[in-house]
Amino acid sequence: MSKRAELLLDMKKSIGTINPLIYGHFSEHIGGVFYDGLWVGEDSRIDNIRGFRKSLVESFRKIHPSVLRWPGGCFAENYDWRDGIGPRDKRPERLYFWYSWDGRTESNAVGTHEFVDFCDMVGAQPYFAANATSTSPQHIRNWIEYCNAPEGRTTLARERGENGHPAPFNVQYWGIGNENWGSGGQMTPEMYAREYIRYATVFRSVRGADTRFIICGANGMKVNWTRRVMEECSRTSPLVVPIWGMSIHYYCGTAGKPLEFTEDQWYQLMFQADRMRMVVDANRAVMDEFDPERQITLAVDEWGCWHEDGTGPSKGYNLFEQQSNMRDAVVAALTLNTFNNRCDVVAMANVAQLCNNLHSLYLAGGENFVETPNYHVFDMFKTHQGGRQIAVRACCETLEKEGFSPLETLSASASEKDGKVTITLANLNMTDAQSVKLTCAGGELRGKGVCTVLRSADPHTCNTFENPTAVTPTASEITLTGDDVIDVPAASVVSIVIDKA
Ligand code: AHR
Repeated sequence: MSKRAELLLDMKKSIGTINPLIYGHFSEHIGGVFYDGLWVGEDSRIDNIRGFRKSLVESFRKIHPSVLRWPGGCFAENYDWRDGIGPRDKRPERLYFWYSWDGRTESNAVGTHEFVDFCDMVGAQPYFAANATSTSPQHIRNWIEYCNAPEGRTTLARERGENGHPAPFNVQYWGIGNENWGSGGQMTPEMYAREYIRYATVFRSVRGADTRFIICGANGMKVNWTRRVMEECSRTSPLVVPIWGMSIHYYCGTAGKPLEFTEDQWYQLMFQADRMRMVVDANRAVMDEFDPERQITLAVDEWGCWHEDGTGPSKGYNLFEQQSNMRDAVVAALTLNTFNNRCDVVAMANVAQLCNNLHSLYLAGGENFVETPNYHVFDMFKTHQGGRQIAVRACCETLEKEGFSPLETLSASASEKDGKVTITLANLNMTDAQSVKLTCAGGELRGKGVCTVLRSADPHTCNTFENPTAVTPTASEITLTGDDVIDVPAASVVSIVIDKA
């Protein structure tokens, strides 16, 4: 049975440009993200580009990743950047943050040079999360100098040259701390704000015109943290302590198991994921109390589903590794639509995490490598990057659940760039298709293009090493005439990219 729905596009109405940084990613030194995930080593029998898994590099660059956050996460608060430079065979091996969970050690084979090289290979900007718990402002100041000082100008710049990269890396985005309300030092908001101020003040001598600092914000709806950090920072001049972005993290969690869930659990997770709207709005509202001009933006630099681990190919060896299916893909589409429709307040977002972890785009191990349904969502949404957002409104079935805002079962966003219009839809209804009538105000929407559909007959299906294309999109030509009804299958994601006639 197909339900009727309508999508109203107001071609003249827009809240602004969709920052490409919303299509950002996160890669932490944890479990199998790097070792045997992204990184296989230069001497590996597995095809690689300067140590990075070739199949992954080639796939990742196709979706135009804008920014990649590194090295954590919690790991960042335990990381000494000097461990990761110089000849690889001389780098120290450490017990690292996750040692007590999985018994692995950190080889430091991937450090600053390797990570920036990976970013260059895939066309992403690096975003470094700096340790603000177990090191000093001077030590991080030196990391910034090491990365960004002009060629040959200082001792650290010369050291960078000796390590193979004379030209500056020009790392623009620097997070000061990670989850400082938790594993980043268990600080109070005031304590953390003073630390941020201390770090940012010290960084004055190394910050270039484009260096952007990101302050640790709230865990989801815990906006009291945001308020108290903002309040404490507002006592100091923004010229001395610039803040480009406020980091917030929101994991929508789980319901049931990643591969076994009931219909109720499907909807439970949709409600939880849809809460991202409230998380963004509530944090922005609190920031507005201190920053009414909106000089500081929001960076949702960790988001995604968080199911129990153990369903990935390593069968539990890789910490937090889990499989993804259409439920996760629909969550990804819903979340990206939410960000597109809040592009006036969200400048950056980073899905957690890239490979062999939570809500991953890839699963890999040994010679095996597979793209998950999440990957396909990012591929289908990539043309939104840098587009002018177009206001949309869905008229569709809405579900209610105690403790949550009403859930629209059709999620949508639209944008326009270089004469192309992109419309992305997610059908949150697990069992029923929706026939979506497109209605335009403020202009017409006609033209030829491509309609891509990501679905699977059973939404529990996932891609595996044995069957890597079980869930894969199908693309077909489409012509919009101005009187169009789009069929959006149950539990699916659809993108339409039209060359405006
Ligand atoms: O993504 C896994 C962990 O989740 C990160 O290390 C931390 O920042 C968050 O709690």
